[in-house]
Amino acid sequence: MDAKLFMVSLGPGDIDLLSIRGLEVLKEADVICVPTKSSDNSFSKSLTQKIILKLMQKHNFKKELVPVYSPMRFNPEDWEAEANVVLIACKSNKKVAFVTLGDAGIYSSVYYMLDIIKKKNFELYENCEVVPGITSFSDASAKIKKPLCLGDSSLEIVPLLEHEVPKTLVYMRPKIGMQTDTIKEEGKIYSFENLNFDGEKVYDKKIDRVKKYMTLFVDFFKG
Ligand SMILES: C[S@@+](CC[C@H](N)C(=O)[O-])C[C@H]1O[C@@H](n2cnc3c(N)ncnc32)[C@H](O)[C@@H]1O
Repeated sequence: MDAKLFMVSLGPGDIDLLSIRGLEVLKEADVICVPTKSSDNSFSKSLTQKIILKLMQKHNFKKELVPVYSPMRFNPEDWEAEANVVLIACKSNKKVAFVTLGDAGIYSSVYYMLDIIKKKNFELYENCEVVPGITSFSDASAKIKKPLCLGDSSLEIVPLLEHEVPKTLVYMRPKIGMQTDTIKEEGKIYSFENLNFDGEKVYDKKIDRVKKYMTLFVDFFKG
């Protein structure tokens, strides 16, 4: 099996808010795996399928859509079943896309599935590409022209649960030359420099000193 798997973030539901990379991937995919809440594997309860149909119509392409029953019960057995659908699709296709609303990094089943795929087929996991997307709250901010954070403010994303939850912290706007000892690692910190520009660097640690203005740190929550 030498399939390539793409986890494509579709953005907040408006087909024009999908990234160009996301569109290219969907156009090149042999099949698109699409979540549906219908247990009969129809797409009658799938918002995502409606978005994909609109996209294919607007951009003039047609792909086989593979239903992925996603009942949203936060049940590991469901993620396993969802990952299995994708793994089976990867057995008979070269390029497989799985789509998710908003951004894959924000409360999406993508990473539950990737954990399972990593265990079952490490090569496929290593080759997998996650395509980022616009989140629902970025879209909300843009719709009413209100910044999510500006100047000295910060942003918190809070799941509406009744217990304490581990946090991911994003550190931005460092001063060039600053030491990073004031940043206390709570989970696992990665440092990102010049993302997508010349000299892009990703470190799986907190760098000691900031060298570039385009530097951010993400302290990923400990699961
Ligand atoms: C499982 S999370 C997925 C979030 C998504 N990955 C993102 O990047 O925004 C689903 C939650 O995101 C929010 N959400 C997602 N799409 C939304 C929309 N179109 N309008 C309002 N809220 C939305 C709601 O709070 C919803 O319960």
